Amino acid sequence: PEAKKTKISKSYSAVDERVKVSGWIHRLRSSKNHVFIVLRDGTGYLQAVLTGDLALAYQTTTLTIESTVTLFGKICKLPDGKTASGGVELLVDYYEIVSLAPSGEDAYTNKVAEGADPSLLLDQRHLALRGETLSAVMKVRASLLRSIRRFYDEESITEVTPPCMVQTQVEGGSTLFKLDYYGEEAFLTQSSQLYLETCLASLGDVYCIQESFRAEKSHTRRHLSEYTHIEAELCFLDFDEMLVHIEKLISRVVQYVLEDPIAGPLVKQLNPGFQAPTLPFMRLDYKDAITWLNEHGIENEDGEQFKFGDDIAEAAERKMTDTIGVPIFLTRFPVEIKSFYMKRCPDAPHVTESVDVLMPNVGEITGGSMRIETTEELEAGFAREGIATDPYYWFIDQRKYGTCPHGGYGIGTERILAWLCDRFTVRDCSLYPRFTGRCKP
Ligand code: 4AD
Ligand code: MG
Repeated sequence: PEAKKTKISKSYSAVDERVKVSGWIHRLRSSKNHVFIVLRDGTGYLQAVLTGDLALAYQTTTLTIESTVTLFGKICKLPDGKTASGGVELLVDYYEIVSLAPSGEDAYTNKVAEGADPSLLLDQRHLALRGETLSAVMKVRASLLRSIRRFYDEESITEVTPPCMVQTQVEGGSTLFKLDYYGEEAFLTQSSQLYLETCLASLGDVYCIQESFRAEKSHTRRHLSEYTHIEAELCFLDFDEMLVHIEKLISRVVQYVLEDPIAGPLVKQLNPGFQAPTLPFMRLDYKDAITWLNEHGIENEDGEQFKFGDDIAEAAERKMTDTIGVPIFLTRFPVEIKSFYMKRCPDAPHVTESVDVLMPNVGEITGGSMRIETTEELEAGFAREGIATDPYYWFIDQRKYGTCPHGGYGIGTERILAWLCDRFTVRDCSLYPRFTGRCKP
C-alpha cells in the first residue's frame, strides 16, 4: 500500500495510516524477536518496532545509533498510560538504510560520553547538539526569538539590521575585538545601540537581533565572546515608561513561549520549578542595593563592605538576586560606573537613568538606560571616558538634528534563556559557544 511521507511531529496524528518517515536512530534496543528504535528527525521522537523477519534482517545488517534510515509502516495508537512520544508507535513493515554510522571505538556514544571532560564535549559540539537536552534548549531558543519578534510586531516596533563591523565603541575599549579593515582599524560590534539611535528619526521605535562581540578575558558562567543581542531603542518616553515596557516584554514573551505547543513542554521539562514572573517587577535603587548588601554581609571584590560607587560584580549580584528570589529592576547607577551615553537623573545628577534586569540563578540579563539628549552633555561624557569624538560625528548629529527623549536596552539571548531553561551556564544556550580560547568547531 501507499505510504504518506511525513515528519515525526505530524505522524502522531496519522493513526492507522501507513507512513514513510526518515531520520536518525536516536535509541536502539533489541530482544530475540523485536527491534525497538527511537527515531529522531528534529521535529520529534518516534518509537518504532521491527518484528518477525524484519527483526531478523536487522540482526544481520546491525543498525547503529545515529545511522540514518527511512521507515515504512502503520502508525498505531498506544494504550493510554504508555508514554512513548506522541502516544503512538510505528509498526515497521519495510525499511531502508540511508547511511550506517560507525560502531565500536568510533561510535557516537563514545564521542559524546556522558561525564566526559567538558572541553572534549565542546570539541564534539556538532555531535553533542544531537542530544536531547541541547536540542531542547535550541528549540526553546527559536521559540523565544519568535516570541520577541511577535511582541515587537504587536507594539509596532520596526526591525533593522545594523552592521557588525564598526569603528566606534559602546561599552568600553577593553573588550573590543579589533580587525584590519582594508588597512583601517575597525572593531566587531559590542552593541548596536548607537546605530539604533540613528534610526529613531527615520523609523520611530526600532529593534534588532544581532550578534555582539566582547573580548571578555574572564571565564565565567555568563560571559561569551559572541552572543545574540536583542536591542531596542524607543523615543518620546521617560524612564518609568521604559521600565514598564521592559517588564511587559519579558512577561508577554515568557507567556508566548509557555503557550507554544513545542517549547512550552520543553521549558517545563528543563525547568520544572519555573514560574512566570508577576508584574510589576521589584524596583531597587542602586544605593538601596548597597545598603542591602552590607546588611546581608555580602562583600565587594576587595573583601570589604560595599560603598557607594562600587561596581556590584557578578558574585555579589547573584547572591543578592538569589536571596531576593524574584526579578529585580536595579536602577540609578552612579555616573562613574556606567557608559558615556547615559542620561543623568534630573533629581540627582550623580546617578543615571539606568537599569539592569536581574533574574534568579543568572543575575543581569538586560542592561538599559535613557540617553543623553544634548551635544554638550554627550561631549562631556566622551571626555570623561577619554574617547575621541571624531568617529562619532554621526551619533552626535542625532542631538543636532531634532533631538528627543529616548532610551533603550539590550537583552542577552543566552542569559534570558539560561534563566528560562535553568541552565548553569550561557554556554549551554548557544549553538557553538565562543569564549576565551574557544573558536571551534
Ligand atoms: O549591559 P550591556 O553591556 O549593555 C549594552 O550593551 C547596551 N549598549 C545595550 C543597550 O542599551 N542597547 O549588555 C546588554 C546585555 C547584558 O545585560 C547581558 O544580558 C548581555 O547583553 N551581555 C552578554 N551576554 C553574554 N556574554 C557577554 N559577554 C555579555 N555582555 C553583555
Ligand atoms: Mg550591563
